Amino acid sequence: ETIEWDPEDAGKSGYDHYMRKEINEQPSALRECFRGRLDELSGRVTLEEFEGFELNPPVTFVACGTSYHAALFGAQLFREWGVPAHAYLASEFEAETMPIDTDSVVVGVTQSGETADTLRALREANAAGATTVAVTNVVGSSAARETDRVLYIRAGPEISVAATKTFASQQAALTMLAAALSNHRSRDLVRELRSVPDRIQSVLDEDAAREVASTYADASAYFFIGRGYHYPVALEGALKMKEITYKHAEGFAAGELKHGPLALVTEQTPVFAIVTGDGRRAEKTIGNVKEVEARGTPVVAITDGRSEVGRYADHVLEVPSAGEITSSMVANVQLQRVAYWTAHELGRSIDKPRNLAKSVTVE
Ligand code: G6P
Repeated sequence: ETIEWDPEDAGKSGYDHYMRKEINEQPSALRECFRGRLDELSGRVTLEEFEGFELNPPVTFVACGTSYHAALFGAQLFREWGVPAHAYLASEFEAETMPIDTDSVVVGVTQSGETADTLRALREANAAGATTVAVTNVVGSSAARETDRVLYIRAGPEISVAATKTFASQQAALTMLAAALSNHRSRDLVRELRSVPDRIQSVLDEDAAREVASTYADASAYFFIGRGYHYPVALEGALKMKEITYKHAEGFAAGELKHGPLALVTEQTPVFAIVTGDGRRAEKTIGNVKEVEARGTPVVAITDGRSEVGRYADHVLEVPSAGEITSSMVANVQLQRVAYWTAHELGRSIDKPRNLAKSVTVE
C-alpha cells in the first residue's frame, strides 16, 4: 500500500490550507512576539532593539497592503500617546515632496521585508538622512539590512499569500513600539496585551464565523465599517475578503458611510460592523448601523456585547470584552475567519489567489 504524499502539503500539519493553519497559530505567534518585552509590574514595554533610541516626532510610516493597515493602526497609537504620527502608502510616499530630513523618523512596516514600494520609500528616507526603522517578520531581509533599527514581529513563516498571523503580530509589535517610544506606561495595557492570545483562542474555538460565511456566500458585495482602532481592521477585513473570495469588498470609516457608500448598500450586501465597548465611538457607529439596517441590509456585528449594537444586527460575532486597542486584534480574527470560510464555500484557491503574490518585488 502506498500513501499519496504531496510535498506541498507537508507543512500544513493536517490543515486543508496554510491560511487556516496560520489563523490558528495566532495565539502562539503573539506569545512569541510579546516574549521578554512586557513587564506587568511596571506596565512598561521594553524593546532591546530600541535602547538609546531618540524619538524625534513626527513618526512617518510607510507600508503596502495589509502592512499599511497595521501602519494606520500604529500611527493612531503614537498619536493617542502624544506623538504626532502619520501612515503613508509606500507607493505614494516621495521623500522630496515632504519634509523628510535628518531629524525624521521613517518606519517601514513590511512582513517580507522585500516589498519594492516599501524598500524604495525607505531608501529615499535613508538618502534624505532620516533615521529608518523596519518592522518585519523576516530576519536578514532587505528592509532589515537597510534600516537603522529593526523590530522583529516573530510571527514565524507565513506561506499563505493572504497575510493573517503577521497582521496580528504587526498590531502587537506596533502597540509595543508606540508604548516604548512614547514612554507610555500602563499596567492595564500590558495585562490586556498578555490576554490577547487567550481571547483569540476563544474566537478560534467557536463556529459562528463559519455560519455567517455560509449564510452570505452568495452576497453581491461585502462592506466593513469601524472607527478609531477598528477602522484599519475594517479595511483589513475587506482586503482579506477580496483577496481570497474574488468578490467585491470595501472597508469604510463608519462615519464615511453616509458620504457616498450608503448608495451601494442593498439586501444583497451584508455590512460587517465592528463595535466594542459602550463609549462615544461605539455609539456613533451604532448610529451608522441603524441607517444601514433601516434599508433592509443584513448587518453582522462584531462586538463584545457592551453596547446595544446587537439589537440592530442579524448576526453577532462575539469578542471577549476588553479595551478598544486590543479588541481590534481579536475582532480582526473573526473577519479573517469569515473570509476564509466564504472562500472555502466558493471553492477558491485560498492559499494562492489568482493574480497575487506573497511578496511583490516590482514597483
Ligand atoms: C503583497 C501581499 C500582501 C501584503 C503586501 C505587503 O501584496 O500579497 O498580503 O500585505 O504585499 O507585503 P509586505 O511583505 O511588505 O508586508
